[in-house]
Amino acid sequence: MIEKIQTLLASVPTLEANDAKSLEALRIQYMGKKGLLNDLMAEFRSVPAEQKREIGQQLNILKTAVQERLQQLREQIAANGENEAAEAIDLTRTAYPLPLGTRHPLSIVKNEIVDIFSRLGFALADGPEVDDDWHVFSAMNFAEDHPARDMQDTFFVEQHPDIVLRTHTSSVQSRVMENTQPPIRVICPGRVYRNEAISARAHCFFHQVEGLYIDRDVSFTDLKQVLLTFAREMFGEDTRIRLRPSYFPFTEPSAEMDISCNICGGKGCMFCKHTGWVEILGCGMVDPAVLDACGIDSKVYRGYAFGMGVERITNLKYRVKDLRLFSENDVRFLDEFQSAY
Ligand code: DAH
Repeated sequence: MIEKIQTLLASVPTLEANDAKSLEALRIQYMGKKGLLNDLMAEFRSVPAEQKREIGQQLNILKTAVQERLQQLREQIAANGENEAAEAIDLTRTAYPLPLGTRHPLSIVKNEIVDIFSRLGFALADGPEVDDDWHVFSAMNFAEDHPARDMQDTFFVEQHPDIVLRTHTSSVQSRVMENTQPPIRVICPGRVYRNEAISARAHCFFHQVEGLYIDRDVSFTDLKQVLLTFAREMFGEDTRIRLRPSYFPFTEPSAEMDISCNICGGKGCMFCKHTGWVEILGCGMVDPAVLDACGIDSKVYRGYAFGMGVERITNLKYRVKDLRLFSENDVRFLDEFQSAY
């Protein structure tokens, strides 16, 4: 038996396997249930007691040698696999880092607006782009003959004069008020549509962010402070604001807000038409008629609202001169926002 073991031991270093399959076959041949080593173990049982010690030792040496050789072969096969994988690399492929896409400038600015108001405690609200006349106009206190309902401004759904593409995100105000009791503090970003000829300065769709705050003791001062904070966060610490009286059916009093021109710092330039101011949003105290139409008691609650155009703010931040660039998806334009977040 000793001889048999020695012959096997001598052959161990010559064992070869080139792939996982032949290695497994080798393992079964030696270490398997019916393998060579188990055969020897069976034979070992009938070895006379005085030889057991020596033969046992030899058997162990053989077992270890086989295990080590199998491990060696396993490592060799793995290393070859890696080499093959390395050889399979396509050197003509574009080098890393692969170019990443960029966020659309309007998304960048919208996210920034949402971010600022979120920090001031405003939650996000959403509404449909195809909406009914009630939510877009009637609930927002537009009189029956208000020009905004005119065919020239509004896209109507054919054969459904009551269904429109929303012309402003103020429609989300009415939806939120119908479903929530105050305190309400929401901002509603979204796309809006108007029947306009497309040019550098006008488009048939654009984006707005609406804000609404309703509670017991809301005042115009609160509105002014929130808008000032927003303007400074968005355009810089030195930004000044001014509110000019205006008119919107859904607010009373109403105002339009200008910021000190962020291009010339208020000294006057082409951009601000030498006034030092540029308009960025409309706002006001929610008209009691709107509260009542939406099921909120105007004797108990008051609120303010504001609405801004995302394109307008993006133009101010990034000086985009032609509105059409936002929807043409020219990669040369979009690539310029690579470093923005
Ligand atoms: N909806 C107005 C527009 O599209 C913007 C606006 C003005 C929204 C005043 C408001 C507001 O909430 O209070 O031009």
